[in-house]
Amino acid sequence: MRKAARLVGAVVVLIAAGLWFLAEPRMIDADGLPDHIADPEYGRLVFHEAGCNSCHAAPGAKGEEKLVLAGGLGLKTPFGTFYAPNISTDLVDGIGGWSDLEFVNAVMRGVSPDGSHYYPAFPYLSYQRMTIEDVLDLKAYMDTLPAIGGVAPSHDLLAPLRLRRGIGLWKLAFMDDAPFVPPLGADEQIARGAYLVNGPGHCGECHTPRNLFGAPDQERAFSGGPAPEGAKNVPNITPSEDGIGGWSERDITAALRTGLLPGFETFGGLMVPVQENMAALTDADREAIAAYLLSLPPKPSWWKQ
Ligand code: HEC
Ligand code: HEC
Repeated sequence: MRKAARLVGAVVVLIAAGLWFLAEPRMIDADGLPDHIADPEYGRLVFHEAGCNSCHAAPGAKGEEKLVLAGGLGLKTPFGTFYAPNISTDLVDGIGGWSDLEFVNAVMRGVSPDGSHYYPAFPYLSYQRMTIEDVLDLKAYMDTLPAIGGVAPSHDLLAPLRLRRGIGLWKLAFMDDAPFVPPLGADEQIARGAYLVNGPGHCGECHTPRNLFGAPDQERAFSGGPAPEGAKNVPNITPSEDGIGGWSERDITAALRTGLLPGFETFGGLMVPVQENMAALTDADREAIAAYLLSLPPKPSWWKQ
């Protein structure tokens, strides 16, 4: 009996050690950084594509305040509430002292400078598809934004999720660290739209349903998402009857630019900060997004399947 118990104990320890090992952070190393002269002007566009301020500006920030990345916004999920941290240029409370490599690994790998995992509430599952050049330009722009002190509240999570190392196993299952690949047969415009939507734009983080583990269900990509605050689901944005099948390319670009929808409605809820950022893009990029969405396979909304 004692021998059996010891054997079981040894197996448990081995499995735990194996899982701990598998959960190790995977990072880009210094050799992985391209020779690139960062362009803060282009970085400003990347910032709006990626909507960093939708989460990292102080709750209720308006106008210019949306460039002060003080953090503090609470993101409610089935796993608890995450609070977006201060990512201003403040040297103590923000990320002012970070190197390019630390920034790239945070955004594209979800790993902190001290080597721990970030929670995927930080949408790095999408940002892993960004080009490193875009992320370096983004950093050069963010380095020009104001510093502000102050620390966001700690996350309020279900107990088993407090151990960050465990996120490594989630990443092992759902994150491939692969660069963006354009859809088969896509022309240049659709390829650009696919990059913007799936990479920086992280549209699927809200518009794609999630599995039990909170990872996006790619089979049903863009067929709508669960409402984070209950009530209304996030709409289907594939060109099907219950999605945006009735919208023209112009309807989509106009909505992204002005916030006005066909039929004189306006965007509400979580789409408002997204649209405000989309308004800062070039016409060509908004057109690329529209062309890509209309090229998607039409799907019924996931809640009807
Ligand atoms: C959907 C909301 C959301 C968006 C959009 C978002 N973030 Fe975050 N971000 C978070 C959350 C939540 C965390 C905290 C993660 C954690 O604690 O594990 C975080 C953490 C970070 C951190 C780590 C800060 C630290 O002190 O360790 C950095 C850096 C960061 N985000 C940068 C960005 C950048 C740059 C963008 C745009 C490209 C961005 N974020 C977009 C939610 C978001
Ligand atoms: C933070 C969550 C979130 C993100 C990210 C997001 N959306 Fe949305 N989107 C919403 C919500 C919520 C609505 C519904 C708004 C409403 O009720 O008025 C919406 C509505 C829309 C609609 C209108 C659909 C309809 O039938 O009315 C379009 C088109 C759209 N989003 C496109 C996009 C694109 C393109 C992106 C990426 C650049 C994106 N969204 C990113 C939450 C999001």
